[in-house]
Amino acid sequence: MAARAAVRRACHRDIEGLVALWRELMRHHAPLDPQYDLVPGAAAAWRVHLAGLLGGASGAVFVSGEEGAPGAFCSVELRPAPPLLSEPGRAEITDLFVSPALRRNGCGRALVEAALVWIRERGIARVEVRVVAANRDGQAFWRALGWGDFVDVLQRRL
Ligand SMILES: CC(C)(COP(=O)(O)OP(=O)(O)OC[C@H]1O[C@@H](n2cnc3c(N)ncnc32)[C@H](O)[C@@H]1OP(=O)(O)O)[C@@H](O)C(=O)NCCC(=O)NCCS
Repeated sequence: MAARAAVRRACHRDIEGLVALWRELMRHHAPLDPQYDLVPGAAAAWRVHLAGLLGGASGAVFVSGEEGAPGAFCSVELRPAPPLLSEPGRAEITDLFVSPALRRNGCGRALVEAALVWIRERGIARVEVRVVAANRDGQAFWRALGWGDFVDVLQRRL
């Protein structure tokens, strides 16, 4: 089994590699639901969002791989709660992708563990992830890590 690359915080040198990984993540989801069809220029918009995550306090991106050449990533964002709830807020794992050649070697697990450390350090006690019901890899992964059902989001196309 190949040694697993260490997980680290993403830096600005990783941005183009992260955009390439995000495109693959979108390609993985495209056959699962039409909502993942991208408009021209989508990658540029995501690049801007990503740059904000790298520089801000409201989210973080973890990667595996050499600086400038990430092979996997996990992004997390803080979601403050409205002031009527006792829970101050939650975190959300917004994207997770491991390049096919690196899979089933603990990389996804290590990225999520790094994200959970970052979340706990901010005093947040609950994390959500949205997983498409038909995403077999994603469903198997999250459930193997002990994550469970919370809300069923139902949809109807008109
Ligand atoms: C889901 C994904 C991130 C998993 O990454 P990974 O590095 O292969 O995951 P790990 O090696 O850390 O797997 C941890 C455990 O999850 C489970 N698991 C992971 N992928 C699985 C799969 N395809 N089928 C069944 N179980 C799986 C296993 O129990 C695994 O432990 P094991 O290999 O010792 O049996 C990766 O397959 C991926 O990027 N898929 C496409 C994008 C995607 O679906 N992202 C998630 C969106 S919510």
